[in-house]
Amino acid sequence: MQTFWDYRFAQRTQRMKSSAIRELLKFAENSDVISFAGGMPAPEVFPIKEFQEACLRVLSNNGPASLQYGSTDDYVPLREMIARHPVRYGINVTIDNILITSGSQQALDLLGKIFINRGDRILVESPTYVGAIQAWNAYGAEFVPIPMDENGMITDFLEDRLRAGVKFIYVLPNFQNPTGSTLSYERRLKLIEMADKYGVPIIEDDPYGQLRFEGENLPVIEVLDSQTRLQKDCYSGNVIYLSTFSKTLAPGIRLAWVVAPPEVINKLILAKQGADLHTSTFNQIVAYEVAHGGFLYEHVKIIRKVYKERRDVMIDTLQEHMPENVSWTHPQGGLFLWITLPDCLDAQDLFDDAVKEKVAFVPGSSFFAEGGGHNTMRLNFSNAVPEKINEGIARLSKVVKNHLVKNGHS
Ligand SMILES: Cc1ncc(COP(=O)(O)O)c(C=O)c1O
Repeated sequence: MQTFWDYRFAQRTQRMKSSAIRELLKFAENSDVISFAGGMPAPEVFPIKEFQEACLRVLSNNGPASLQYGSTDDYVPLREMIARHPVRYGINVTIDNILITSGSQQALDLLGKIFINRGDRILVESPTYVGAIQAWNAYGAEFVPIPMDENGMITDFLEDRLRAGVKFIYVLPNFQNPTGSTLSYERRLKLIEMADKYGVPIIEDDPYGQLRFEGENLPVIEVLDSQTRLQKDCYSGNVIYLSTFSKTLAPGIRLAWVVAPPEVINKLILAKQGADLHTSTFNQIVAYEVAHGGFLYEHVKIIRKVYKERRDVMIDTLQEHMPENVSWTHPQGGLFLWITLPDCLDAQDLFDDAVKEKVAFVPGSSFFAEGGGHNTMRLNFSNAVPEKINEGIARLSKVVKNHLVKNGHS
């Protein structure tokens, strides 16, 4: 039944849907459910003492300024710290290339606001980050999926898709959410070459790049892109890079950043003024106090160690309990792995039984912009302690086995 309000909402509001993950997290909030559903960091690694001390220092030394309004592109020392970050060696980035946002999720929304006209086609990995689909749907985006394998987006399909015309390419190069796979070096180069040939910008969303616990670091696409160009004082290439403090410090502070050509940053600033004026001054100053001077560098080493252990436990337990015809990715970092079930199973059907067994995951179909992936699921390995991972995977394997039996497999 249509209500009074239904007639008043804008057309764009009709396109807004709650993310399946938000809905699923409601089940997971129950404390006896072992949840592999959310993208939550391990709470055990939050630097609570450092935040406590930094809050006191900021309030004592910088109280009024930290509680005052700031400008949209504040806080300069934080932007300087980001500009100096080692992942950008070999690229000239100044603070004019950087905007602090209230989470990368806000950056995705602001990018939608400044770039997407209704009907614009956006090339996305298939599957891709559900938060981007959600943000850009509201601006009327159409999604052009590109298949993936364990080395990320299959760039052989790129030219064909680009020739048909797209507004931009959205790529998650490291330990992708949801699959955990990483874009190979050769494919990064191919992506840059193709984007350049067709004059299409790349949005590189990289929340997990610093959480590599195995294998060699691969260069940031924006850095590779800058190497193909004449070096200027300030990056002015084809890539818009996003990253966040959510996975290295804490998601609750809602702090992230964009590195982009100044022309793009200036438009994002205008869009952000309309959204929230600026990101919390207090959070920016406190985060800077915590992170600078080498703390963050040391802290991510601890996070990597904890997540590697949890990934190993999850993979060992999957190997022990899952039937033979179930496979999973082997991420070299990040927070997620991706399970592929036999084609006859539907992860959505499994979900209800899994919740009865008190274990939760995200059915993979949520991550496909244009449908598909019925027999896939995303598991988060960062949030639960090893004993819970063991128990949760044993419960999940039982549900999978029951469904296989129901479908005539013994
Ligand atoms: C690929 C990707 N982009 C963006 C975000 C949003 O991050 P933030 O907490 O900075 O808003 C996430 C969060 O999980 C993510 O996985």
